[in-house]
Amino acid sequence: MRPSREAIHGQWSSRWAFVLAATGSAVGLGNIWKFPYITGEHGGGAFVLIYLACIVLIGIPIMMAEIMLGRRGRRSPINTMRHLAQEEGRHGFWRYLGWMGILAGFLILSYYSVIAGWALAYLVRTGSGVFTGLTADGVNNIFYSLVADPERLLAWHTLFMVMTMVVVARGVRSGLERAVRYLMPLLLVLLLVLVGYSMNTGAFQQALVFLFSPDFSKLSPNSVLIAMGHAFFTLSLGMGAIMVYGSYLPRHVSITRATFTIAGADTLVALLAGMAIFPIVFANGLTPGAGPGLIFQTLPIAFGRMPGGEFFGALFFLLLIFAAWTSAISLIEPLVAYLVENMRMSRVMAATLAGMVTWLFGLGTIFSFNIWSGDRYKLFGLTFFDLLDYLTVNIMLPLGGLLIAVFAVWAMRRESSVSELGIGDGRLYRAWRFVTRYITPVAVSLIFLHAIGVL
Ligand code: TRP
Repeated sequence: MRPSREAIHGQWSSRWAFVLAATGSAVGLGNIWKFPYITGEHGGGAFVLIYLACIVLIGIPIMMAEIMLGRRGRRSPINTMRHLAQEEGRHGFWRYLGWMGILAGFLILSYYSVIAGWALAYLVRTGSGVFTGLTADGVNNIFYSLVADPERLLAWHTLFMVMTMVVVARGVRSGLERAVRYLMPLLLVLLLVLVGYSMNTGAFQQALVFLFSPDFSKLSPNSVLIAMGHAFFTLSLGMGAIMVYGSYLPRHVSITRATFTIAGADTLVALLAGMAIFPIVFANGLTPGAGPGLIFQTLPIAFGRMPGGEFFGALFFLLLIFAAWTSAISLIEPLVAYLVENMRMSRVMAATLAGMVTWLFGLGTIFSFNIWSGDRYKLFGLTFFDLLDYLTVNIMLPLGGLLIAVFAVWAMRRESSVSELGIGDGRLYRAWRFVTRYITPVAVSLIFLHAIGVL
């Protein structure tokens, strides 16, 4: 055995700290904002089924691989990949995997922050009772008047970026760890309250049928790619976020158990969000395919009608903001860790610089909903935001994840992964290795080829 390495940025204080932080990264806007709206756009049940299959066959094996590489490398993803490639006698180009991840994280955060800004705006609106007694139309109008106003969006985007960079600047222990501990369980409780409300809307059954009874005729090849991309997005995989969190993980912690806990919690939150939102959609005659505004156009209807809705509504958006916050910090952490390691910057300096560039890029997303929403500003019929989302989530993350899997089981020596995973060489290890070696790469490649029309 080689002497164990430690990251220069510190370590998690315990197994729970890591599981919570990684769950904090995984559970975010992806579960509550994105999962319902893409499920609505892609017809429900069949899409959900493909998404769940992707979590199990692609997401879980890759998450184990990604945590493992991070813990073995103990550095930012670029340096981890360079170092591990060297250690395993492989080509230095593996470090570009780290670079692609940094780019993906930066691009995702630039729009993630804008959407988190919507949640900030809604915290104020629900809390002040704006939605009380409104019809679905009234709630819609409030959403459209928000996104039509670039200045307001910019103000909220700016606030969210500042919040994110403050936490990142404070570093692993004091910054990243603390926020998650109490807020995640509370979010779960609140989602249950909302599901409880939705059970009484009269459309709960219809929503369950929509979510869980698959109708494959509604699926296009592109839907399958989007379901897979979302599996990567929702588990924070394929860009080094989980790798960098893994690099702060103490040696004795079981990667397998942590992975199942994180993936389980993440999936639970997404399904609960679906069960809270779709009954409201159907009970109010709204369309499930309303797009990125879906939760902002549905949940306020419920808050406007339920007793204590102002309180519950404000609490819900507050928790959503925390969920987004703990995800956002992981999107930028690989870049910040790299700047600290290779550019000799202080964390504060690195966080400020990274935050400013991301903030600027976010303007493109803000304008996608107003001054650049016309056809003149679209490419392939997609706005800047749509393109950015498609490129990062459906292409960069699966490609990054594929390469992580390939590195972990093809480039790395078997002994290295046995020793790092720490589950021995028994059936569990062999199952992981088999799935990651054959099933995962083939599945990702087939879905890619299918989506571009080759298959
Ligand atoms: N998983 C988060 C969500 O569902 C988003 C996120 C955080 C992410 N870190 C990531 C997505 C890294 C991809 C890669 O909201």
